[in-house]
Amino acid sequence: MQTVLITGTGRPYALGFNLVRRYLEQGDTVLASIRRPSPALEELQKDYPGQLHILTMDIASTESVQAAAAKAERLVGSLDLIINNATTASADTMKELPDFDLDLIAPAVDVGAVGPIRVVKAFMPLLKKSGKGALIFNISSEAGSIGRCYRTFYLDYGTEKAALNMLTMTLHNYFKDDPDINIICVHPGWIRTNPGNTEAPLDPYEHAETLRKLFETRRHDKEGPVFITYTGEPYPW
Ligand SMILES: NC(=O)c1ccc[n+]([C@@H]2O[C@H](COP(=O)([O-])OP(=O)(O)OC[C@H]3O[C@@H](n4cnc5c(N)ncnc54)[C@H](OP(=O)(O)O)[C@@H]3O)[C@@H](O)[C@H]2O)c1
Repeated sequence: MQTVLITGTGRPYALGFNLVRRYLEQGDTVLASIRRPSPALEELQKDYPGQLHILTMDIASTESVQAAAAKAERLVGSLDLIINNATTASADTMKELPDFDLDLIAPAVDVGAVGPIRVVKAFMPLLKKSGKGALIFNISSEAGSIGRCYRTFYLDYGTEKAALNMLTMTLHNYFKDDPDINIICVHPGWIRTNPGNTEAPLDPYEHAETLRKLFETRRHDKEGPVFITYTGEPYPW
C-alpha cells in the first residue's frame, strides 16, 4: 500500500482520472488534484471513502500549491509517489509561426514545466517521510524531444515538455545521492484522452495500468534512463 498524489485528475476520459482509478483499485490512498470541481471525481469518491482525497490545486500558483501541500500534510502526513500529469496547451497550439500568438508560450511553460516542479518543491517534506523511497513521475511527451522534433506547430506544448524534461534531469542530478527520492519522466504514448480523438490507439483506463506497473519498476532505479517511453525504453532528449 502506498500514498499517491496525481495532478490533473478531473476529466473522466483523460489519463489522470484513470490513473486515480487504477491506484484506488490497488488499495492505495490517493490524493487527486483538480483546479475546478469534478462531478466524476466526487462520484468516484463515494466508492472509496477515506481512500480518495480530492485536493484543489492550481499548479500555476505557488500559493495554491503550497496550500494544497499543507492540506495534504494534515490528511496523509507522507507521500510515496507523485505523478505530475496536469498540463496545458494554448488555443494556438496547432498553428505555425505566422498565426501563433507567441505571448501564449510563457504561460504554457509556467503550467506544463514549472507547475510540476512547484509541486515537487512544496510536497518534498512529505516525500521525505515516505519510508519506502519516494518516486516522482513527470508525464512528458515525445513532443518534448528536441532530437526527434519534426513538427512545425506545438510551439507552446513542445517547448513546455522540453523544459519539463530539462527540469526533470536537473532534479534527477539533485536527488542522485538522496536515497529517499527518485525522479524521472515518461512519454506515455498516444492515448484516447479526448472524446473527439478516436484515432489514438491506447485506451486511458487500460493504459493507466500499464503506466502504474511501469512506475513501480523505476522506484529505486537511479542509474537507468531518465526519459523513457511507456515500454520502459529510453527516449531521446
Ligand atoms: N493524450 C495523449 O495522447 C498524450 C500524449 C503524450 C503526452 N501526454 C501527456 O499525458 C498527460 C495527460 O494527458 P491528457 O490528454 O489526459 O491531459 P488533459 O486531458 O489535457 O488533462 C490535463 C489536465 O491538466 C489540468 N490542468 C491544466 N492546467 C492546470 C493548472 N494550472 N493547474 C492544475 N491542473 C491543470 C486540466 O484541468 P481542467 O480539467 O480543469 O482543465 C486537466 O485535468 C499530460 O501531461 C499530457 O501532456 C498525453
